[in-house]
Amino acid sequence: MRSKNILLGVTGGIAAYKAPAIVSQLKKMGHQVKVIMTEHATEFVTPLTFQTMSQEAVHVDMFAHVVQTEVEHIALAKWADVLIIAPATANTIAKLAYGIADNMLTTVAMATTAPILVAPAMNTQMLRAQSTQEALKILRSREQYEILPTAEGLLACQDVGEGKMLEPEDIVDYIQMALTKKTLAGVDVVITAGPTKERMDPVRFLSNHSSGKMGYAFAAEAAARGAKVHLISGPCHLKVPKGVDFIPVESTEDMFNAVKEHFDDADVLIKAAAPSDYKPKSYSEEKIKKREGGLMSVEFSPNPDIAKHFGSIKGDRIIVGFAAESHHMEDYAKKKLEEKHFNYIVANNITEAEAGFGSDTNHVRIFSADGREEELPMMEKSTLAAVILDRVEKDLKS
Ligand code: PMT
Repeated sequence: MRSKNILLGVTGGIAAYKAPAIVSQLKKMGHQVKVIMTEHATEFVTPLTFQTMSQEAVHVDMFAHVVQTEVEHIALAKWADVLIIAPATANTIAKLAYGIADNMLTTVAMATTAPILVAPAMNTQMLRAQSTQEALKILRSREQYEILPTAEGLLACQDVGEGKMLEPEDIVDYIQMALTKKTLAGVDVVITAGPTKERMDPVRFLSNHSSGKMGYAFAAEAAARGAKVHLISGPCHLKVPKGVDFIPVESTEDMFNAVKEHFDDADVLIKAAAPSDYKPKSYSEEKIKKREGGLMSVEFSPNPDIAKHFGSIKGDRIIVGFAAESHHMEDYAKKKLEEKHFNYIVANNITEAEAGFGSDTNHVRIFSADGREEELPMMEKSTLAAVILDRVEKDLKS
């Protein structure tokens, strides 16, 4: 995603201490961030913290300042691609609902046409108070506003309940969603990700080094673009992207059955998983005991080739496959492209540092069924997913 202008409003609650982490994550993603604080917020975190992290002057809520900077608040309102208020107190939420613009933040909120995300943070009873609930209802009814949920847990006041602000990474996910055009709305996308696990006995299994990062990056991007996403995932330890239908599986056989269940309705199938081609021929209910001396051999039987099976009955679906290769990348990738009826095959060399298994980045060559081929530079897996989805989108429209 190209760099966007993100305006962060910080109001006076203890959760303000988490807001610098939002700035930090957004900056790492390459966005421009400007911060407006209410005067109460400065009691919790200093403007200097935000100024240092955003590398921008921080706008603090002083009434005199507002009078002098009439142009400034309009300029900020126009500058923003999105306004996120995190944390949002009951006080600010009520002001937004009833049109009270008595500080820089509420004035900018009234003047901007950008989407406004509100991340409430307060004591459980304050959240449940009729006045807060009515104000939230008003904001929810406005197309411009999105009210983020709160989390449950131990609050600063030592009560346990709802009202905790979401974690910074969750808030960043919502911001990304709000900034992404819904170009895949109405499109059904099935994605396979991660390794499979083929059990041999109660303690041992056959698997591989796939972390799921490539497949999960596709799921996050496709969901942000408004697609209906079914993420069929082998055992991974990643956060499930927001808004996806998550289907955890274990073996290649399970993955095959899950794809079968969702294939009829699918428009696009992305096969980023690394399913095991083989499984132990038999499963031992008892732990296989160590034998004294000598070799031990295990027999394997073939697993279904998911991509090949569904490729052969693909109809007008678009299928993107991957090839994890250590040698003869081009030859093997082109063979798989043809045999598995892929529209595209994305070949990654798994022996290259920072590419293939486990890394946040990937370096790939893409071969298409109509003979095009292209090498992309090393890039974040999230960027690669976006680049490939751009192509899929174009094909869907043609
Ligand atoms: O998960 P990460 O850590 O982010 O790593 C990403 C990745 C390296 C796993 C990913 O980029 C990748 O290359 N995935 C494909 C791995 C693989 O199984 O490659 P393959 O060449 O063995 O298989 C070719 C294609 O057939 C793949 O799309 C695969 O999903 C599919 N396949 C393979 C075997 C099988 N039994 N069924 C299949 O559908």
